[in-house]
Amino acid sequence: MYILLMGPPGAGKGTQAANLVQKYGIPHISTGDMFRAAVKEGTELGKKAKACMDAGQLVPDEITIGIVKERLAKPDCAKGFILDGFPRTVEQADALDGILKALSIRLTRAVDISVPSDVLVERAVGRRICKKCGATYHIRFNPSKTEGVCDACGGETYQRADDSEATMKNRLSVYEAQTKPLISYYQEAGLYSKIDGSQEMSKVFADITACLEK
Ligand code: AP5
Ligand code: MG
Ligand code: ZN
Repeated sequence: MYILLMGPPGAGKGTQAANLVQKYGIPHISTGDMFRAAVKEGTELGKKAKACMDAGQLVPDEITIGIVKERLAKPDCAKGFILDGFPRTVEQADALDGILKALSIRLTRAVDISVPSDVLVERAVGRRICKKCGATYHIRFNPSKTEGVCDACGGETYQRADDSEATMKNRLSVYEAQTKPLISYYQEAGLYSKIDGSQEMSKVFADITACLEK
C-alpha cells in the first residue's frame, strides 16, 4: 500500500498513520516529524525549518522535496509507505509524481481526512505528545490516564510549539491557500478519497481501511 494521508492541521493524520502502521506494517513518513527531529538535533535543516514552523508557514519546497526524495529511496519504502503531510503544495505534488515514477511506484490512494476548521483549533491546542515514544493524546478527546504521563511508556507529554491558538490560525490559512488545491489535483488523478474526520477515531480508521481495501 502506497498511501498518501491528506488533511488540514489537526485533522488526525498522525493518529491514523499510527493505526495504519499497526495494521499494514509499512513505514510512516511525516515531514513534520522529520523537521521536529531535526530541530531537536540542532542540525542545519532544523535551524532552517524551525523559523518557518514557529510562524505556521511552510518550509520551502526545495528543502522539503529533498528530504522526502531521500527517505522514499530507502529500502523499507519499497513495499509501501504512509506519507503524512507531504505533499502540501502543487510543486511538491509534481515532484512526488517524478520521484515515484523513477521508483516505479504507483500511489494506492490519496486519503483526505476532512474536518471542519472550527474543530481543528481545539484539536491542536489540546494535543499532547509523548517526549519518549511520540504517542499522541488530547486533553479532552483522548486523555492519558494520568495527566502529563504517557500510557504506553510512562514518558512525559508536552505541547508542540506550533499548537498555540494564534499559530494554528496561521497554519489553517496556509492550508487553505497552498494545500487545498491538492484536492482537485488528486481528484483529477483518480486517486482521491474523502473521509469524514469529524467522527470518533475508530470510525475514521474503519472508513480509511474500507476505502484502501475497496
Ligand atoms: P505537521 O507536523 O505535518 O503538522 P500539520 O499538518 O499541521 O498536522 P498536525 O500534525 O498538526 O495534525 P495531524 O493531522 O497529524 O493530527 P493528529 O493526529 O496529531 O507539520 C508541522 C509544520 O512542519 C508545518 O506547519 C510546516 O511548517 C512544516 N511542514 C511539514 N510538512 C511540510 C511540507 N510538506 N512542506 C512544507 N512544510 C512542511 O491529531 C490532532 C489532535 O486531535 C490530537 O490531540 C489527537 O488526539 C486528536 N484527534 C485525532 N483524531 C481525532 C478524532 N477523530 N476525534 C477527536 N480528536 C482527534
Ligand atoms: Mg501530525
Ligand atoms: Zn510514550
